[in-house]
Formats: sequence, structure tokens, C-alpha cells
Amino acid sequence: MMSVRHWFGERLDVSGEDLRWLTNEPVPNHMKRWWFALGGTPAYLYAIQIVTGLLLAFYYEPSPSRAYQSVAYVTDEVPFGWYVRSVHKWGATFMIAAIVLHQMRVFFSGAYRKPREINWMIGMSMLVCTLTIAFTGYSLVYEQLSYWGATVGANIADGVPLIGSTVKRMLLGGDSYNSHTLARFFVLHGAVLPIILTLLIVVHIAIVRLQGVSELSFEEEPDGGGTFNLFPDHVYMELTIGLSLMVLLSALATVFPATMGPLADPLTTPEVIKPEWFFYVAFRWLKLFSGTVAILSMGFVVFTMFCWPFIDDLIRRKTRFSEASVWIGLLAVVLISVLMIWEAAVAH
Ligand code: HEM
Repeated sequence: MMSVRHWFGERLDVSGEDLRWLTNEPVPNHMKRWWFALGGTPAYLYAIQIVTGLLLAFYYEPSPSRAYQSVAYVTDEVPFGWYVRSVHKWGATFMIAAIVLHQMRVFFSGAYRKPREINWMIGMSMLVCTLTIAFTGYSLVYEQLSYWGATVGANIADGVPLIGSTVKRMLLGGDSYNSHTLARFFVLHGAVLPIILTLLIVVHIAIVRLQGVSELSFEEEPDGGGTFNLFPDHVYMELTIGLSLMVLLSALATVFPATMGPLADPLTTPEVIKPEWFFYVAFRWLKLFSGTVAILSMGFVVFTMFCWPFIDDLIRRKTRFSEASVWIGLLAVVLISVLMIWEAAVAH
């Protein structure tokens, strides 16, 4: 035992004091409130998605003739396959919800303001990347909604002026859904996009570590409230959130396991095409303003969200409405909720 310690000691001369210095980063006290520490939750859920996704990839076959049967095999035959698939599906829902909640807390606490504009834009890229991973994932099952959802998605891309038709052809591997399409979705879902998302997360968290989290002051803690230790206090809190989520995901996977709809039929359009809840807003918008108008206006909204820290800065410098962002944010939350409930409530 001593010789092993000696061997490592000669190569990695790290003392207990060095380790304490590395792990005892002070964290502002407001991070004790769980909604301020929500950034760790999507990171934890992403780790679950990678582990369960890799297990599913052992069985998945990305071709129109085999995809559906391979998912059915995982669901019905592979030991605990139903559990892994269900946790992966619920994990996707939870991860998107956690990102949106984290983004809302960053927005409403103004934590995107100088010098954190770059991290806000990286965050927006992560949101878009995660939604695209979810979209390509749902298309892999090759059930009716996967097929028609992918077809609708490709047609939306087609509506983008100038580059739309090229994007559609690249996505589908041809002018319409064909035998190469699933392989493309699989490579995007399981490799290209996760690599991009992982890099973005690493940069995002590195910037958080470099800049530190923004210090917020509260009326009850006018001096900013002091700090506490990253290890073990903050790490314990993150672990508690992580374990509670795992219990919740397992319970949901057991009570509401992932099912399978009817096999894709390229000749029969289903009566109702409903995407997953996180695309309800975009879907309702597409129904309200058809064609290029809907696509361009959605692009404009996403672009505005990307640039928000700079737009907000302009409003604060040039007008008297220094907290306009709060009202604009509240209006956006109401609008998004109305569109979501509307889409959820109607059959078509
Ligand atoms: C995969 C998705 C994401 C992960 C894993 C993640 C992770 C984190 C973590 C761990 C923090 C440290 C503070 C905290 O826990 O709240 C943080 C802070 C931050 N995040 Fe994210 N984040 C994600 C998505 C986003 C999105 C979508 C946005 C906004 C568009 C965003 C913007 C920010 C900003 C500006 C900060 C600094 C906040 C401050 O200093 O108070 N993040 N993120």
C-alpha cells in the first residue's frame, strides 16, 4: 500500500492542502436555495441520458425495415430494457424542463448581464442543441408519429429562405424520407449533437467557474449573504437533488413506461399529428401563421433571445425602464403558457 502511495506521490505530488484549495471554492449563500442552483440538474440528467442512450444503442438498428422491431425487442424482451428506455424518455422531458427553469431563473435574476452575455448565448445554443437531440430521438422509433413528425420537421426546414431546401436534403439524405434518413437521424442523435452539447456544457461550466456565479443580494441579506463551501456543502445538495430525481424517474418509468404507437406507414397520414409537449408552442405557432411567416417569425424570436443581454443593455442605457426585462419576461411566460395549453387542449 505504501509503495503504491509512494509511486503516485512521485508522479502526482498533490497534498491534502492542495485538494482542499481545489474543492473549497466559496459559493454565494443564495445558491442554498435550490432554484438558484438549477444549473446542476440538467447536467445530471444529461449524464443519465448518455448512460441510458448508450445501453439502448447496443440494440437499435437504424433502418426502416428493422428500427421499429429493434425498439420493440428492447421494450419487450431485453431484461430491464423497458426500464432503460422509459428512464431515457422521461429523462428527456425532465432535462428540457430543468433547462427551461434554469434559464428562467437566470433571466429573472438578470444573471445574463455584463460580463455573462457570452454564457447566456452558449446557454441558448445548448437549449437549441437539446431540443434538436430530442426531435431526432423521437424520430428513431419509426412509429407513425416518428415518421410524420420527421416529415413535418423537414418541411419546416424547407420553409427557411435560401438555405432551407439544402438543410432539408441534408437532414433526410434526399428530397423526401428514404432508406438513408434513419441512419442520419441516429448519427445526429447519438454522436454529432451530443459531442457538440458536451463541449458547450464544458465551456459553459468553465466560464461559470472563471467568473463565479453572480452575487445576488436580498432584502433580508443586504450584505450579499456571505459564502459557503463547494465541498462538501454544495456537492451534498447537488447529490440530494440527483438522487431524488433518480427515484422520481424510476417511479415514473415504472408507473408510466414508454409504449409504442403503430408502425410508420408512409402512405397513410395519421388523423392527428401531435409532437411532444416541448414542441407544442412551435406547432401551435405554425398552425396560426402558416408557411414562411411562421418560420421567419420563430427564427426572429430565437434570434432575439440569443441577443437578449445586448438588447436589455440598450433598453437600460437609453430608456427609463431599467427593469423592462421582468415585464417582457412575464409577458413571454404568459404567451408561451397560453400557446402550450391551447395546443394541449385541442384534438387537432
Ligand atoms: C444543458 C444545459 C445547461 C447546463 C448543464 C447548465 C449548467 C449551469 C451551471 C452548473 C451553472 C452554475 C449556477 C447554477 O447552478 O445555476 C450555470 C449558470 C449559468 N447558466 Fe447555465 N446551464 C445550461 C443551460 C443554460 C441556458 C439554456 C442558459 C440561458 C440561455 C444558461 C445561462 C447561464 C448563465 C448566464 C449562468 C450564470 C448565472 C450566474 O452567474 O448566476 N444556461 N449553468
